[in-house]
Amino acid sequence: MSDTPFLSVRSLRKSYARNVVLHDVDLDFRPGRVYGLLGENGAGKSTLAKIVSGLIEADSGTVEVEGQARHFKAPKDALAQGISIITQEQTLALDRSAAENVFSGNLPQRAGFVKEKELRGEFARVAGKLGFSDIAAATVVKTLSIAKRQQVEIMRALARGSRLIIMDEPTAILSTVETQQLLQLIRRLADEGLVILLISHFLEDVLSVADDVVVLRDGAVTYFGPATGQTPRSLTEHMVGRVIDFEHQRPAPLSEHAPVRLRVEGLRRADGIGPVSLTIRAGEIVGMAGLIGSGRTEVARAIFGADPKVAGTVTVDDVEIAHASPRVSVRHGLGMVCENRKEQGLSLIHSIRDNDSIVVRDRFARFGFRTVRAEKAAVRAVVERTDVKCRSMEQPIWQLSGGNQQKVLFAKWMMAEPKVLIVDEPTRGVDVGAKAQIYDIIADLAAQGVAILIISSEIEEVMGLSHRLLVMRRGQLVREFAWGEASRAEVIAAAFGDYDNDGGSNG
Ligand SMILES: Nc1ncnc2c1ncn2[C@@H]1O[C@H](COP(=O)(O)OP(=O)(O)OP(=O)(O)O)[C@@H](O)[C@H]1O
Ligand SMILES: [Mg+2]
Repeated sequence: MSDTPFLSVRSLRKSYARNVVLHDVDLDFRPGRVYGLLGENGAGKSTLAKIVSGLIEADSGTVEVEGQARHFKAPKDALAQGISIITQEQTLALDRSAAENVFSGNLPQRAGFVKEKELRGEFARVAGKLGFSDIAAATVVKTLSIAKRQQVEIMRALARGSRLIIMDEPTAILSTVETQQLLQLIRRLADEGLVILLISHFLEDVLSVADDVVVLRDGAVTYFGPATGQTPRSLTEHMVGRVIDFEHQRPAPLSEHAPVRLRVEGLRRADGIGPVSLTIRAGEIVGMAGLIGSGRTEVARAIFGADPKVAGTVTVDDVEIAHASPRVSVRHGLGMVCENRKEQGLSLIHSIRDNDSIVVRDRFARFGFRTVRAEKAAVRAVVERTDVKCRSMEQPIWQLSGGNQQKVLFAKWMMAEPKVLIVDEPTRGVDVGAKAQIYDIIADLAAQGVAILIISSEIEEVMGLSHRLLVMRRGQLVREFAWGEASRAEVIAAAFGDYDNDGGSNG
């Protein structure tokens, strides 16, 4: 639209100790355009985003808004210049209503009282404009799904009059359909003159919506130019300096005699999810597809004992897990890589070594003392295998980039040597190279006889990897496909179900 950049950064530099995270980055962002920001885990994407949104300060260089140098000491300084960021660490007030969050700081008030009616009207207007008609103004945010909370954040950014919205991996938490909706919205916002900076590891998504692409490698820009003419392959090359082949072979053939390792029968949760029955054999990889909210994670958590069940049994190698809790499950050889690494999987203040060895402390303490050396060697082996970018094993988790945190979590469960491993969205937020590594590790674990249940929204990838694919809808298993039996479209159709017969007896 306009030729003057809305935002420019010049010679931006940032380091942590001796680790230079951004080297002399120069970029211009123009109104009406969508910019994709790509790079491997640890490349510096979030760091750049945090600097231009005032969350952290650069060591040197300048940030200019419409040609004027600005110094952001805090997010409010960036907000005042029309720059908002939506990160995965959502910043909503969970106990407040959606409307209060959207208009926090500028609630319509009269003599100190919030004018409820105006608030609702204004909320409906913003929601309608964005097509978010199913969020009520009064809904308390903590009762909303993660996807809906993200919509509240977008509404808040607009209500604040933002002209640049940065989204740091916004689709990592969304299902296929929700992702398409968000991408369309991003396009629409840009067409209205906003600048959108989209950070994502989904190269196809970025190519489908971005006008321009910025690629960072080790903190330096390796490509900044039009998206047209780029392909996932060329972008990967800019990101990692080499070509990564993404051909997923079919899963290794499964012996007919492979014994059942995990057996779930009639599992029900108090929230109405279930009954679910399934078996997974030694060496078998079973994928689980479904829309967000279909109950996949809930089923997995109930199998693992992280949430209570009201009926049903779970057995591992024919031993029933009674009085289920994660600790008991681990003792029976059942492991789970959780969906939300911050809440469930990792302790941010602890070191990589502490996090990774927590599940196997017992193993190393078997002879009455903690063998630090054995533990260190074991952790190092898995960290190397998953290629975690870190300074040392003693580095606290919060200092790692998002994708590297995911890899540490994965490494943790590899060390536990489980018989059955449940992985919930294992590649969320990891870059293309690391993704391929994680799938390789899953295939290797299966080859060693581990039974694997993998939940993922990346349908093609689970389809390629799994011997069988189960589809969940509304808390029930509704379809099962053998490897190669279904197309992506058929799986999606099964996940959606038949709209016309909604509430009917099918499914
Ligand atoms: N507070 C900190 N202290 C030390 N190092 C840090 C800190 N914050 C970030 N880093 C390091 O800076 C580098 C860049 O991190 P950044 O979060 O920008 O990566 P990213 O490109 O967003 O990666 P990802 O795709 O995994 O999210 C990483 O090596 C990270 O470990
Ligand atoms: Mg990041």
